[in-house]
Amino acid sequence: MGSIDTPTITENGSIQSHAAAAPADDNQRPLASSNGAPESEATKKRRSGILPLEVGTRVMCRWRDGKYHPVKVIERRKLQSTEPSDYEYYVHYTEFNRRLDEWVKLEQLDLDSVETVVDEKVEDKVASLKMTRHQKRKIDETHVEVGHEELDAASLREHEEFTKVKNIATIELGRYEIETWYFSPFPPEYNDSLKLYFCEFCLNFMKRKEQLQRHMRKCDLKHPPGDEIYRSGTLSMFEVDGKKNKVYGQNLCYLAKLFLDHKTLYYDVDLFLFYVLCECDDRGCHMVGYFSKEKHSEESYNLACILTLPPYQRKGYGKFLIAFSYELSKKEGKVGTPERPLSDLGLLSYRGYWTRVLLDILKKHKGNISIKELSDMTAIKAEDILTTLQSLELIQYRKGQHVICADPKVLDRHLKAAGRGGLEVDVSKLIWTPYKEQS
Ligand code: ACO
Ligand code: ZN
Repeated sequence: MGSIDTPTITENGSIQSHAAAAPADDNQRPLASSNGAPESEATKKRRSGILPLEVGTRVMCRWRDGKYHPVKVIERRKLQSTEPSDYEYYVHYTEFNRRLDEWVKLEQLDLDSVETVVDEKVEDKVASLKMTRHQKRKIDETHVEVGHEELDAASLREHEEFTKVKNIATIELGRYEIETWYFSPFPPEYNDSLKLYFCEFCLNFMKRKEQLQRHMRKCDLKHPPGDEIYRSGTLSMFEVDGKKNKVYGQNLCYLAKLFLDHKTLYYDVDLFLFYVLCECDDRGCHMVGYFSKEKHSEESYNLACILTLPPYQRKGYGKFLIAFSYELSKKEGKVGTPERPLSDLGLLSYRGYWTRVLLDILKKHKGNISIKELSDMTAIKAEDILTTLQSLELIQYRKGQHVICADPKVLDRHLKAAGRGGLEVDVSKLIWTPYKEQS
């Protein structure tokens, strides 16, 4: 859900839309055996020689846009019969984000394009999908964001090995059935279920619909636990202390990981506050998204993880959550920055937010303004201001100093390109005091 028009960040960091991701002429190839013509003996022989495909094989695969894109086979599983062609393959589209990895049928693959060189180490990888207890603990216990650039090659391989195939395909949450994006380390007894049923209020999850129905008759929550710190119209924000509501915090992490790559979870949610945004009606307060925040951050992080649930994405809630995190920083009298690395969608949302906030000020401001002043006004960390303005080419380096050059016409052009403003946070509706350790 919400992924068809998802942009991809290429290796050089630029953003591509999927439509533009594949070369136009090269991706309309016919299938070796699906053009209606009977297969020649030579083709049959070749097919039987390469089937079933090895894990690690690179081949072209027909995607949901009807075009062929390069993929790498991540895993395979046998179907009922004994034919070597009767396998399904879990593939990663090498040009796209991992959230688009999926099981495909043989007929989607163009066998003429098979590259026979199988990636090194692949043989070791196929040996077993099962996690050792140590590896499971590693995945479960660290909440710290882990991104490619922070992992050595061995840890990265380990991460990709044990998170390579989505374990849960869909979840039911409130009135939505949602397709998941990534692996999440649910307790082992849940790993044989393709679908999980979540109580939308306490976030307990179950394997069967009847269990959920029974639970809903007993569950007396109608909103997240914790304090309602913001209400404006039908929107409410709840602050949930991970220490006081441990199970809720853990459930939220399990749920969130289904949509966050390179995030690992840990059970020690005590150190975090969770800000859960809800749309409220007479049935209760329905979770739209959330962000987590460390109670004490030495790196001046004001946000650890952010998520808008897929059915609510692209409606401005992400920018609302980001704006909210900066409003909390303003109340704390601190500057803040999100924990790194940012996902592709996280980066787009932050860039859009920073651009809009900073350029709005520059447009209204008469005379010179420094990065420090901008930081004081917005609670955005100076480095983030500098990189944003640099990427917009609004910074010049003169006599050892960074100078902001803001031509109104250029500002207007950038503002237009930065997209919509998102939902506004009405600060007068925020009733909150910064976290203080209770003795
Ligand atoms: N395609 C293209 N651009 C997109 C997309 C998309 N699918 N999604 C977001 N954007 C960009 C757009 O510029 C958009 O602004 P616009 O709609 O005005 O053009 C902007 O990001 C933000 O849009 P919002 O509607 O305010 O954000 P949304 O509610 O969709 O939430 C979020 C953004 C939270 C990043 C969401 O995509 C999400 O939950 N993703 C999965 C989890 C994730 O990656 N979180 C960030 C990890 S980094 C961290 O946690 C510190
Ligand atoms: Zn419940």
